[in-house]
Amino acid sequence: MYCLGIAASPRPVSNTTLLLERALSAAAAAGARTEKVLLREMQFSPCQACEACSRTGQCVLNDDMQQLYEKIIAADRIILAAPVYSMGMNALGKAMVDRLQRFWAIKYVLQQPVIADKNSRPPRKGFFISCAGTKIKDVFAGAEQVAKYFFRMAEVEYLSPLLFPGIDEPGAVFNHPDIIAKVEKAARTLVAEIPSE
Ligand SMILES: Cc1cc2nc3c(=O)[nH]c(=O)nc-3n(C[C@H](O)[C@H](O)[C@H](O)COP(=O)(O)O)c2cc1C
Repeated sequence: MYCLGIAASPRPVSNTTLLLERALSAAAAAGARTEKVLLREMQFSPCQACEACSRTGQCVLNDDMQQLYEKIIAADRIILAAPVYSMGMNALGKAMVDRLQRFWAIKYVLQQPVIADKNSRPPRKGFFISCAGTKIKDVFAGAEQVAKYFFRMAEVEYLSPLLFPGIDEPGAVFNHPDIIAKVEKAARTLVAEIPSE
């Protein structure tokens, strides 16, 4: 089983990326083949709304998103980790999700499946990890809406998110072993449902 982790934070020492790494380690220990993709190390442009994907199902931007499309399609499990910036998903994460416009076009304009062999594969599942510096009401609402959209476009069932308010300074999450344990447990459960390769 292939479990893909996508880290959206631009920070070199990032709370959400640290949690993703712990989740992927737990998934690997449970038998999954894991891969971490750092959006901050990728070269990709924002969607330019050219609408070519509505005609062809392909994105004309020849950048690192082309490899990420393939990984998203191949994954059995996906964990998306992105922080709250300015009350929504951070810009790097949102830019990646906007590039799934190609999947939207395949589904709703071309009326084809994004995952061609979906019926012969185990159900795909995933969850969202996020941190916010404050604990204000609904601080995750905007980011979670975008995360849900990401999983819907990727044709991946959206499981309960792991949302941690009041986590701010780089690496602050290391002071919260309870949070790390929650993320590790969720990752083990995520990969436990289908046999490993
Ligand atoms: C540009 C920017 C905007 C932010 N906006 C918010 C915000 O609107 N609400 C909030 O609670 N925290 C906000 N934060 C704090 C982050 O959510 C917090 O530091 C989080 O732990 C960052 O996760 P990361 O280390 O994975 O990037 C912001 C941080 C930055 C850098």
